Amino acid sequence: MRMTRRDFAILAGGTMLASPACAQAAGPLIARPIPSSGERLPAVGLGTAGVFDTPDPATEQKAAAVLAALVGDGGSLIDTASTYGDAEIVLGDVMAQGSLRGRIFIATKLESPDETELKRSLSRLKTAKIDLLQLHNVDDPQQSLSQFKDWKAQGICRYTGITSTSHGAFAAVEAVLGREKPDFVQIDYSLDDREAEKRILPLASEVKAGVLTALPFGRGRLFRAVHGKTVPDWAQSFAGSWAQFFLKFLLADPRVTAVIPGTADATHMTDNLGAMHGELPDAEQRRRMIAFVESL
Ligand SMILES: NC(=O)c1ccc[n+]([C@@H]2O[C@H](COP(=O)([O-])OP(=O)(O)OC[C@H]3O[C@@H](n4cnc5c(N)ncnc54)[C@H](OP(=O)(O)O)[C@@H]3O)[C@@H](O)[C@H]2O)c1
Repeated sequence: MRMTRRDFAILAGGTMLASPACAQAAGPLIARPIPSSGERLPAVGLGTAGVFDTPDPATEQKAAAVLAALVGDGGSLIDTASTYGDAEIVLGDVMAQGSLRGRIFIATKLESPDETELKRSLSRLKTAKIDLLQLHNVDDPQQSLSQFKDWKAQGICRYTGITSTSHGAFAAVEAVLGREKPDFVQIDYSLDDREAEKRILPLASEVKAGVLTALPFGRGRLFRAVHGKTVPDWAQSFAGSWAQFFLKFLLADPRVTAVIPGTADATHMTDNLGAMHGELPDAEQRRRMIAFVESL
């Protein structure tokens, strides 16, 4: 089943109607400047690892609802990869059917600086240009971004980046980040996994790289840790849900450009987007959040 623009609009409307209970109070949304350009990026995006792997009608329907929620609430960033099953195909189809390409900041990842892989991603995403092209899972300090920089100079991508979620590879990430100075680094950072604060975030600041936080919920680990508990009273002024509690902890660090929680559920997408509104925790509240999670 292919979705028409009308189907998409209906789905988008339904998603928005279902959403206010989850979202924080409306207001200006948090958008952060990309350090290398000053372009502002809405601070909550969407991760797509393992959620849109199969390009079948049921997956495309779910993806359409999630994307409708994302753009409907002012978001734009989607993170995917050439290796996330057929997620690029699903996203390309849904963006085309909803005429959404112009409203999405698309970040994808290649396994290597390989032109065939790049052309495959462009074709699957149905786009002539990638917003952010990342080298996936950097694990060698000698890895070069020169081909990615050439592609940026040719206008094939607007920004370059590197990614890793392996602490064992952090030394390689530091070496490549410091030498190649990409526009972005994507790293795992969550309330219960703060290793990136020690070396990656300070270096990202120094080289003026934006930071995307992969695994902001620790692949769902944080939700399992608070299962059956409610958000504490002292956090309810800034977090209307656990998702917002976890995401706002990260967004309260000004070095974080955007968080990219993964979801195939439009209601969860809307909940996550609520973290772009309202107050962020201050330093004392952040310490309390850490102590709370460590006490679980
Ligand atoms: N090396 C790399 O470059 C790398 C590695 C890993 C991840 N990443 C990127 O980081 C993104 C995020 O990582 P992830 O998706 O693995 O893990 P995650 O974002 O830490 O957690 C995802 C889990 O949280 C659940 N969830 C999301 N929103 C929720 C909400 N509001 N309430 C309750 N549950 C919620 C999801 O379930 P539902 O689907 O039911 O919502 C899913 O089980 C990836 O999708 C990918 O784009 C990059």
